[in-house]
Amino acid sequence: MDLGVLISGRGSNLAALLDAIAEGRLDARVRLVISNKADAAGLDHAKAAGVPTLVVPHGEYSDRASFDAALVAALREHGAEWVVLAGFMRLVTPVLLEAFPYRVVNIHPSLLPSFPGVDAQAQALAYGARITGCTVHLVDAGTDSGPILAQAAVPVLADDTRDTLAARILAQEHALLVRVLASLGAGRLRVGASEAGKRPRVSLRGEASAFGLAINEGAPGAEAKAR
Ligand code: GRF
Repeated sequence: MDLGVLISGRGSNLAALLDAIAEGRLDARVRLVISNKADAAGLDHAKAAGVPTLVVPHGEYSDRASFDAALVAALREHGAEWVVLAGFMRLVTPVLLEAFPYRVVNIHPSLLPSFPGVDAQAQALAYGARITGCTVHLVDAGTDSGPILAQAAVPVLADDTRDTLAARILAQEHALLVRVLASLGAGRLRVGASEAGKRPRVSLRGEASAFGLAINEGAPGAEAKAR
């Protein structure tokens, strides 16, 4: 599996992918890491792993489509066949999506369709959700609106802050992203026939039960303290 990974910041999901690859848990290669921000800390993870990096500042492009065209050119040049949005804070356009059909994947820190967009963890906390989690989905032109591939759930605890909740979700993100990519790389993506006006159903063959509700068993006192 030849991956191009797009980031904007910390890059912990990128690091999780690189670790999984190094440890033989994911049969893939990261061909290129692109950041739209020059100071993204995640670029250091790529460099440490010997992965080529590129900064493509979105502000230098007149519109989203021309920015995406630059991304596509770089991804193709480096041999990427799948694109992972790992904390990439830009909406993508059909220019990218049509270059990699059904091959652009995003990780989002909520159980979509709840809490799309920025700071999903704070949204869940503010809403009073008792369970939240993370979602890996195929990307479409909307905000976190593409077909869901897999989700993992975590409890929201009574004394959670935005940061404690985000950390609990993040641990699940790292595991889920690796598992989903392994599944995609093994050819398990199924795209159903599309009915008029509806998008096709997608699923990961043979993985439905494995990707079921996964309450974080590591959270100390989760049951007692859950609200
Ligand atoms: C993650 O919470 C991811 O779900 C969201 O942005 C965050 C990126 O974190 N899309 P990192 O840069 O991978 O550490």
